Amino acid sequence: MRDAQDGGWPGEAIFYGADYNPEQWPEEVWAEDVALMRRAGVNLVSVGIFSWAQLEPAFDRYDFGWLDRALDLLHAHGIGVDLATATASPPPWLARAYPETLPRRADGAILWPGGRQAYCPSSPVFRRRSLALVEAVATRYAAHPAVLMWHVSNELGCHNAHCYCDVSAAAFRRWLRERYRDLDALNAAWGTTFWSQRYGDWAEINPPRAAPTFANPTQQLDFLRFSSDEQRAQLRAERRVLKRLVRQPVTTNFMIGAGGKHLDYHSWAADVDLVANDHYLTAADPQAHLGLALAADHTRGVAGGAPWLLMEHSTSAVNWQPRNVAKTPGQLRRNSLAHVARGADGVLFFQWRASRAGAEKFHSALVPHAGPETKVFREVCRLGAELRALAELRGSRVDADVAILVDYEAWWGVELDSHPSVDVTYTDRLAALHGALWRAGVTADLVHPSTDLTGYRLVLVPTLYLVRDADAEALTRYVHGGGTALVTYFSGIVDEHDHIRLGGYPGAYRDLLGIRTEEFFPLRAGERVTLDDGSTADVWTEWLHPTGAQVLASYADGPLPGVPALTRHAAGAGAAWYVGTRLDDAATDRLVARLLAEAGVRPAADAPPGVEVVRRRGDGRSWLFVINHTDRPARLAVTGTDLLTGADCAGDLLVKAGEVAVIREAGVEEGRCSPGSGRAPSSS
Ligand code: GAL
Repeated sequence: MRDAQDGGWPGEAIFYGADYNPEQWPEEVWAEDVALMRRAGVNLVSVGIFSWAQLEPAFDRYDFGWLDRALDLLHAHGIGVDLATATASPPPWLARAYPETLPRRADGAILWPGGRQAYCPSSPVFRRRSLALVEAVATRYAAHPAVLMWHVSNELGCHNAHCYCDVSAAAFRRWLRERYRDLDALNAAWGTTFWSQRYGDWAEINPPRAAPTFANPTQQLDFLRFSSDEQRAQLRAERRVLKRLVRQPVTTNFMIGAGGKHLDYHSWAADVDLVANDHYLTAADPQAHLGLALAADHTRGVAGGAPWLLMEHSTSAVNWQPRNVAKTPGQLRRNSLAHVARGADGVLFFQWRASRAGAEKFHSALVPHAGPETKVFREVCRLGAELRALAELRGSRVDADVAILVDYEAWWGVELDSHPSVDVTYTDRLAALHGALWRAGVTADLVHPSTDLTGYRLVLVPTLYLVRDADAEALTRYVHGGGTALVTYFSGIVDEHDHIRLGGYPGAYRDLLGIRTEEFFPLRAGERVTLDDGSTADVWTEWLHPTGAQVLASYADGPLPGVPALTRHAAGAGAAWYVGTRLDDAATDRLVARLLAEAGVRPAADAPPGVEVVRRRGDGRSWLFVINHTDRPARLAVTGTDLLTGADCAGDLLVKAGEVAVIREAGVEEGRCSPGSGRAPSSS
């Protein structure tokens, strides 16, 4: 992945804008659009994302007239374009002419056109037709002065991540042959001696289609890997065409965070020139800003610490949640600036003008149905001006002393069926630990387990159920070299084939942690246990024996009274902690506070509860973001200049309820940037 230093980032501005869909509007509206864009300070719009049917209304017949006029108009008003390859959703004629391009569910049901993304990701017909479109669009607009970057497809895999049709089955077999070379290796990896599943011919193998009972877990895991790779193959194929024809950077919008677990983005980062992400709040969650921070920290980790682009979020409500709660006054700005705090060098939304028709007509936009005389558009204009005032921090990096290991394969593995408890989900402990750090004012990079951990003071390992030998050894080396690590329950259980690591749990980390668990004791729904330090916990307990670790807390009740629940093992020059139960939030906060103290990690600033503090650094300067999520004013001992107001503060910063300050700091000692900075995460 390239970063700001070697030309991955076009221009010097912080980007501000939205998806712009001029094809939904009569051209008379476009003039008002560009005038309002200028008023709002918009400098980048994503154009053409869902316009395949407009650009190629019939097989091989192209109509670029409207797009020519739209791009010329945007350029005439100084607005840059992130031009889509327009392959996100095929036009209805494709399915009519080639019904085999339609995706199928595991139960065989066909997913028909009429929504979006109705194509099988492995379809050679889709691939051919989509690349013909990319070729046509790129040839026509490669030299258009408005185009600053290229946007491959849109949220690849959002609705069609897993296809079970015959075309996909054939592609899955090809992928498996590549991976295993011979059937014996596949049979061994899939453990097919179990339940008479042995394969004697590649042709017998299918995707894990609807079956009488649990499908083979390794077959499921490989299908998830294959499916991520198939989506990635579309990105790579489009990128290859673009790289032949255009000079601008190429990206696509990832769905890290709220978008779920379908795609292994750590392996995708190598295929984009700059990482871009879409993030939507879970409106029902009053603490949704924690989910936002988690997604942003993960996006930065995928980007190897480099600046990234927030390609989509919403100005207010979305249309696709059960209750589409609107953003309160000021929330749009807090959300956007929280992404910038955590490394975004551009803030874009879906979409510019709220649609009049179609499934997303109740989705918010920069220009609402009610027009520009609205709370939303006023806030949009204010934010545009503020992002211009923050231009000096473009290219700077986020400070983080803590790493949290995250891996999509572990996520896939832990959420397969027939496990000890349905209550063990991947993001549960990840969010709990990240939330505890957020409350402590400490920023973490979310990185792949293969990332070089040197330089991090503390490494957290939540629910890393599946781990490769090399990655487990890397954590051991990190601790022995003086690092502090915490591993949570149901980590290190299986290898990459989903085979149990024998000899007592958690096999991969047993020696590092100085413990050996002989049996899991998951709890009943709603059952709670108490620890002898007063903490409460639920979901999980286990019969753990220390084999060198010091016991910090044990169960006072529940199925295992007296058995250790929290341990610490001095290993080499460092320490490896283990927590064998699901602590409540207060106990998690206390545990994280102990770990931070032991590892010598300080918050970005001492701040009252509910006030988010994050630091960015670059060129010998530092900027502190202070985001007040509470309904009370907050005071912090900070010295510097607020870039948003121009006001100076000398050791006493007041941030009003719901407000944000971005302080260019005076007198903060020169520190490291994010230890992960500049290192592309290696992929597995
Ligand atoms: C995204 C998608 C956009 C729009 C948006 C609505 O997933 O990329 O096209 O649908 O959601 O929130």
